[in-house]
This record gives sequence, structure tokens and C-alpha cells, in this order.
Amino acid sequence: MTIHRFLPALLDEASRPFRSGGHFAYHYARGKLSSDCIFRELLRRGLFAGGRRFLDLGCGQGSLFAWLLAADKLHAQGNWPADWPAPPHPTALRGFELMQKDVDRAARAFGPDHPLVAIRQGDMCAVDFGQADVVSILDALHYIDHQRQQDVLARIRAALPPGGIFLTRVGDAGAGLPYHICNWVDHAVTFVRGHRLPQLYGRRLTEWVDLLRALGFVVDTVPMSEGKPFANIMLVCRVPDA
Ligand SMILES: C[S@@+](CC[C@H](N)C(=O)[O-])C[C@H]1O[C@@H](n2cnc3c(N)ncnc32)[C@H](O)[C@@H]1O
Repeated sequence: MTIHRFLPALLDEASRPFRSGGHFAYHYARGKLSSDCIFRELLRRGLFAGGRRFLDLGCGQGSLFAWLLAADKLHAQGNWPADWPAPPHPTALRGFELMQKDVDRAARAFGPDHPLVAIRQGDMCAVDFGQADVVSILDALHYIDHQRQQDVLARIRAALPPGGIFLTRVGDAGAGLPYHICNWVDHAVTFVRGHRLPQLYGRRLTEWVDLLRALGFVVDTVPMSEGKPFANIMLVCRVPDA
């Protein structure tokens, strides 16, 4: 199967659970998963390869988990691009999300007794992270203030074993107009979703990288705004092998 036929099949499979979450949940998932390059790239680059226990903070309605489950299923069926690494085969997909409405949509999509997925209402600044092989925060770190960012990142580092990975995406506050455009869009989307306009806490890319390196991560930076006039950077943060 060519990549042009594979990606729509993956999108169909990943968005299917959200049909039971209602019109908004389904179309939000399809729009997000098809238009945001980070979902394709984390599979194409094999960033989560070998990861079993996942923790997604600020997980929304669980679009990332639906994507990973769909990838695992298609791969098991032999429907996988020949030049992509095998996707992860998760044993636990835990998520925490502040907004109860998103948690409710996730519950309708995955059901109450899903064998792998557990999405709970909780503030990433307060919940117990437990242990995980992969921790992700996609576009949510800038909602918490700088001191809390530091605390959360330190606790993520403590939750990961040698070889573990923390994947996040942040805006580069040093990038000028593209950074501000992204924040305006963020405000608009947050408002449309019925939330108060949040204060956002950005950092320059160099500050993010210095902070993560000081915690013991090996950090790769990858521009991740494809097709959008943003200054979004994916940070791939690895815990060195013991
Ligand atoms: C831009 S959305 C991204 C959602 C999801 N990561 C995705 O990629 O679809 C940011 C999410 O972070 C959540 N969030 C913000 N602050 C949070 C906190 N302190 N704890 C948990 N979730 C939080 C918001 O409610 C929102 O759902």
C-alpha cells in the first residue's frame, strides 16, 4: 500500500472510536490527526519504538492514544509502510486532562473498561505520574507557569527509566511573529472550546533546551509546524541508557 492510501486508512481507524463520542469529538479528532504533522512524524521517525507504558499529560480527548492504537492494529494486519519502523505495541495508555468535557468525550470514545486506555480528569501539576516508558505533552506546557513547568518536567524525568523518552511540543518565544500567531490561534481555539482565555507561559527554545538538559535529558529539536505559520518545535528528550 502506498503512503497516500495508508495515511487515510490510519486516519479512518484512529478516528473511528470518536464516532461514539459525538459529532464534535469525531470531527475534532479527524481534523487534528489529519492536519497536524506531529502524529505522522512520531510514527515515521519511530520515536516511540519499544515504548509500552504511555503517559500523556494534557491529553484532551485522547486523540494520540487513538492514533497509537490504530497504528498498532494496522501494523498487526500487515498494513504498514515498508520504510517506517514498527509502531509501539502499548500495554498501558494513561492520560490526564484538566477539562472534564474532554475526559467525558474520551470516556464515550474508549468506553469505561478499555483494556489499555485510562483517561482521568486531573491537573498535571498535582497528579501522581507513576512510572512510564514514554511521557508526552503536546501543546499544553505553556498553560502552566514557569515554576510549575520546572516541577512537572523534573517529575517526568523521575518517572522515566533509562532509555525512556519525553516528547513535547512547545512554541519558541524567541521566534517573533510566528510565535505570536500561534498564541493568537491558541487563544481563539480555547475560547471556541468554551474555556476562559488562559495566560500563556512561553520560553525561548534555548531556555527549554537548557532546562531539559539540566534535568539529565539528551534533547533533539525538530521544527514541527508543517503548513502553518507557527514557531512550533518538537522536543525529543531521551533519558540516557544506564
Ligand atoms: C492545545 S490542547 C492539546 C490537547 C492534546 N494534547 C492534543 O494534542 O490533542 C491543550 C490541552 O491541555 C489541557 N491542559 C491545560 N492545562 C492543564 C493542566 N494543568 N493539567 C492537565 N491538562 C491541562 C487543556 O485543557 C487542553 O485540553
